[in-house]
Amino acid sequence: MDEPLMEVLTARLHDEGIQAGPRVPESGPAALPVRKFYIESYGCAMNFADSEIVASILGGSGFEATTDFRRADVVLINTCSIREKAEQTIRSRLHIFRQAKRSNSGLLIGVLGCMAERLKAKLLEEEKLVDLVVGPDSYRTLPVLIDAAEDGQKSVNVLLSREETYADISPVKLNSNGVNAFVSIMRGCNNMCSFCVVPFTRGRERSRDAGSIIHECTELFVEGYREVTLLGQNVDSYHWYSEKEEDVTFAMLLEKVACISPDLRVRFSTSHPKDITDEVLFTIARHGNICNYIHLPVQSGSNRILQLMNRGYTREWYLARTNRIREIIPDCGISSDIISGFCTETEDDHAETLSLMEDAKFDMSYMYFYSERPGTLAAKRYTDDIPEAEKKRRLDEIVKTQNRMSRSSNMKDIGIISKVLIEGDSKKSNTDWMGRNDQNKVVVFPKLGHTLTKGEYANVKIGRSTGATLIGEAISKA
Ligand code: SAH
Ligand code: SF4
Ligand code: F3S
Repeated sequence: MDEPLMEVLTARLHDEGIQAGPRVPESGPAALPVRKFYIESYGCAMNFADSEIVASILGGSGFEATTDFRRADVVLINTCSIREKAEQTIRSRLHIFRQAKRSNSGLLIGVLGCMAERLKAKLLEEEKLVDLVVGPDSYRTLPVLIDAAEDGQKSVNVLLSREETYADISPVKLNSNGVNAFVSIMRGCNNMCSFCVVPFTRGRERSRDAGSIIHECTELFVEGYREVTLLGQNVDSYHWYSEKEEDVTFAMLLEKVACISPDLRVRFSTSHPKDITDEVLFTIARHGNICNYIHLPVQSGSNRILQLMNRGYTREWYLARTNRIREIIPDCGISSDIISGFCTETEDDHAETLSLMEDAKFDMSYMYFYSERPGTLAAKRYTDDIPEAEKKRRLDEIVKTQNRMSRSSNMKDIGIISKVLIEGDSKKSNTDWMGRNDQNKVVVFPKLGHTLTKGEYANVKIGRSTGATLIGEAISKA
């Protein structure tokens, strides 16, 4: 019997695509020709988690995975619409797939995810060789839609649901290192940040059955995974209403997942500054295995811009939250998302963003220049009036400020002992381990001297830092 195909590739998030091959056999007992699918994912962690659901649904309908799209019967691309550049990247990938279709007319090309939802049937007009367009809440219908497409019928299903959470579907891991796993706890978003396309592509917010989340995390732990990241666009509004038992809030869910095992690290993303509660902070402080790290996107430091963005908090509120985080969890790592050049942003507004960064002392940030998305509140109400060169100049200043903040945050770690979960070989050398500490910082250290392995914890003494990475030496198993 063939061994399962174990593809170990590194997940790269944020608008970058990766080739994907699930842990399912490439070829089964030869009888009927088995249809093969290839899937590629772009965008946020939730999209990557969705591709694992798609792999599970297709696996259940007799499809097998391939990591070579030239050998596939169906090529699927799980897309992101968050910025224009994300969509451009996907269109150039579609170009490559179209060429493959020219030499294999039976090949089906399917667009999944946020771009499918945003453009709907229009995508079939714009990209003539696309056969399937399937939105994020319609993946259960994929096998039927593929059959229809094989019969020559172009298919579109972009219905959004108020209930679908795929709670009962056991994701088939793609590109997994066997240590870190993403677990979706909710879908959609009810916030209406004026710049953001997500509420339109992902629909209404809904929480997943708490029992199914605990079950999935427990199974992952049993399989050897040592870190789960609970995913939602706004995890603080997670709420599972139960008729039989007590309701589960996000703080309660965190605690339940943390109680699976002290050896299972728990992370979560994304928290919203207007919604993160003290209860969540106290829960993190109480459990050693809930990582002391919060991704708390601020977007802008100017109250006027925050209001135009419809973020629901002020600069003062935001800084009060970061102070409270550090009061309750003194060594908590905090990271952020920042947008430069939003509609009407003045030089003074921009200066406020830079000064907020100094005050909040982010350990890390994801930084972008504003990209107008059709259909959003900002596109309807405001003019995208900051020239691109100016947006990029401001972004450059934001990046430089963040680099300075990150360097000084890393300098503070020199000499301390960090508990690191080993994720695998370092990118540069297989004689070094790479892992992350509680605060989500990447730590690299030589393998020499200790019999450690992937998925184990090490106490690492930090000796120096290079840019974003801490370099140290293992002093013991943790
Ligand atoms: N739910 C998360 C963010 C999801 S999108 C939250 O509320 O924070 C990830 C990040 O992309 C956002 O935080 C924002 O910084 C950025 N982003 C979203 N829309 C954007 C746009 N139109 N232009 C530039 N950046 C954008
Ligand atoms: Fe977009 Fe705002 Fe929802 Fe985040 S909270 S997904 S930025 S609308
Ligand atoms: Fe992109 Fe959709 Fe995620 S727009 S960031 S893939 S929710």
